[in-house]
Amino acid sequence: MDAPKSDVLSIEKVAVSDEEINGFIALATINRPNKLNALNSEVMEALKNFCKWAEADTSIRCVVITGAKPLQPAEGKRPKPNAFVAGADISEFVDMDSRAAKIKFTDNAVEAIWNLTKPSIAMIDGFALGGGCEVACSCDIRIASKRSKFGTPEINLGLIPGYGATQRLSKLIGYGKTLELIMTGEMVSAEEAEKIGLINQVCANEELYDITMNMANVIASKSVFIAKAAKRTIRASLNNSLDEGVAIEADEFAKLFDSDDKVEGVKSFMARTKPNWRDS
Ligand code: COA
Repeated sequence: MDAPKSDVLSIEKVAVSDEEINGFIALATINRPNKLNALNSEVMEALKNFCKWAEADTSIRCVVITGAKPLQPAEGKRPKPNAFVAGADISEFVDMDSRAAKIKFTDNAVEAIWNLTKPSIAMIDGFALGGGCEVACSCDIRIASKRSKFGTPEINLGLIPGYGATQRLSKLIGYGKTLELIMTGEMVSAEEAEKIGLINQVCANEELYDITMNMANVIASKSVFIAKAAKRTIRASLNNSLDEGVAIEADEFAKLFDSDDKVEGVKSFMARTKPNWRDS
């Protein structure tokens, strides 16, 4: 399947480094560096199309989402800063009323990323603000360069987050810290973001690509079918009580005993061979 084409979202299929795995990591780069990769309607549409494609293409084993690097500045102009995504495109808010906002912020691309059943990683180099922080929170794993900064500055625009931060951010960093970030609108450093659990890992700027892609490769070398079961089951902890969640886990765990990949995994362990996982 060909990846969808868009001027504002570059999609690269990176072959999984393990030669015995016949598959790819889908690397999507939000490409509006002059606007710090802000999420305008075109980017949101492209991200939705990307998610549809990544979900349907059985050769895709893991998804990585990132932001384009700054371009060389024109003569005499100051360089733009590095950004993952500096938020929703504020210029689209100017004449927006509540009806239009409800439509735009419902069934959006952040939900599409969240609803991917395959594993996803946010590779963050620079500002991850507002909608950018929310894109990161809708991925399964977040890895950020040291120069990255995180925040939910919507309060400075007379708004609150609208792409899920009030819910998903608080699942990551807790109720108190979420209130602090949303009510102050202040940014935190990558080190602080790691400390409070907003991101999984912070690394040197120049190591971000290798560290992220190494993790994507490790994940992509496992069974996608089982990774999906893990994601689905862990997600159940967000919407259910502990007892309900444990019951869901028991069900999901038991069902895997009838799966080809469990048979393959256990057989390979016993025979000391490498498992040959199914595609998706
Ligand atoms: N929406 C639209 N455009 C944005 C944007 C956004 N969220 N964030 C940055 N930009 C644009 C700027 O307007 C500027 O465009 P221009 O060069 O055509 O004037 C360009 O990106 C570079 O941003 P600039 O503000 O000049 O960079 P800076 O280094 O001075 O400041 C930030 C960087 C991130 C602190 C600042 O851009 C900012 O506060 N952005 C908005 C963050 C925000 O509120 N996000 C939540 C939105 S709901």
